[in-house]
Amino acid sequence: MKVQIALLLPVAISAAVLDSRQAAQYRFTTKELKPQLRANAKRGLTRVGPIKLLAGLSGRHGMSMDPNGQSVQITIPKATFCGGSDCTIVAGLVGVQFEDGTAADVSKGVYTHHILGSNANKRVDPFVSSCDTAGDVKSIRRPTAVAAGFVGGSDDNINEPTVYGTKDGSIEGGYWLGKDQSVRVMGDLVNLHKKEKTVYITYDLEYIPGHVGADALGSLISVTGCGGKKIAAPAGAAANTTSGKFRFFRDGYLVNGKGHLHDGGVAMDLLINGKYTCSSEAIYGGEGATTVQNGKKWETISGMTICSGPIKIKDGDYMQLNARYDLSKHPLREHGTGGGMAEIMGMWTSPFIGVKGNAPPKNAIVDVSSGDVERH
Ligand SMILES: *[C@@H]1O[C@H](CO)[C@@H](O)[C@H](O)[C@H]1NC(C)=O
Repeated sequence: MKVQIALLLPVAISAAVLDSRQAAQYRFTTKELKPQLRANAKRGLTRVGPIKLLAGLSGRHGMSMDPNGQSVQITIPKATFCGGSDCTIVAGLVGVQFEDGTAADVSKGVYTHHILGSNANKRVDPFVSSCDTAGDVKSIRRPTAVAAGFVGGSDDNINEPTVYGTKDGSIEGGYWLGKDQSVRVMGDLVNLHKKEKTVYITYDLEYIPGHVGADALGSLISVTGCGGKKIAAPAGAAANTTSGKFRFFRDGYLVNGKGHLHDGGVAMDLLINGKYTCSSEAIYGGEGATTVQNGKKWETISGMTICSGPIKIKDGDYMQLNARYDLSKHPLREHGTGGGMAEIMGMWTSPFIGVKGNAPPKNAIVDVSSGDVERH
């Protein structure tokens, strides 16, 4: 992940320069949809594009992390989402579509390496460290404020939305988006065909108008921490890689959790204060995730199951991640698009709602707080 952040920072800076040039190139249109999580919510599908994907398999374009990929940087202007008003996003899903609205997935020759977003006008205090320790978590310092992320994803997890809010609102909150905030999108797409394609990035956002409850924070943590740990994925065998301890800095709730693995991955486990808490498992194949390359059927990860919450967290608690790979069950594909040993990943995302200012929740299902941690 450290590599990824280092690669993305210059992109964020150059995005500002590109803004004026790109403004005319892209359209931002929104269609209303029926809410799925909360009956009182609103939901809109915003299309961003058109994006021209150059003829595929022709090498790296831009700052792609894939040898045959193409990077795209787009700034979504303020007031594009949520009908132009302040809102609290309770669920968000990024996707890729063709002009006619059908999904642009691997079955149609488009592999989404990743689409990441950041909020250009919002800074947040992280609730969890991005570096881990093998020793005492008290040694991990409170991080300084960072630019807030935004709804993102990659091929294995863009079938399910990121859920920032609880279904029943008992822990009220979600991702607060302001009408004066713009979103920087960093996409990395791979055209698997030797023909140009036109695609659109889509944002399916379910939201409550105004800012309600608490602002949910996102997180993206790698099992490799910051120490350059390697994820074990030996050929023809199963192996686990367990992280050190990542420290929490706030009282609150992990709304849920979801892993991100590349092909060969089986599951990711979440441990809180050393105790196994839940898993997010890889789902292989199915519609849109099966294709033929070099005459061989290739099934990619089509989704990751959700580790359901809310999970109660106290300031000073810690989490560990365990990435499970098994190349005897899921051998790596031969073609170099989005796979290969260099791209073994084990990431975790958990939206977080802090308790400050919220009524005590009724439905916290897991309480594994250590009780003996230092207070701030
Ligand atoms: C990996 O961890 C899981 C539990 O999370 C365990 O069931 C499995 O046996 C472990 N596999 C190896 C190869 O250590």
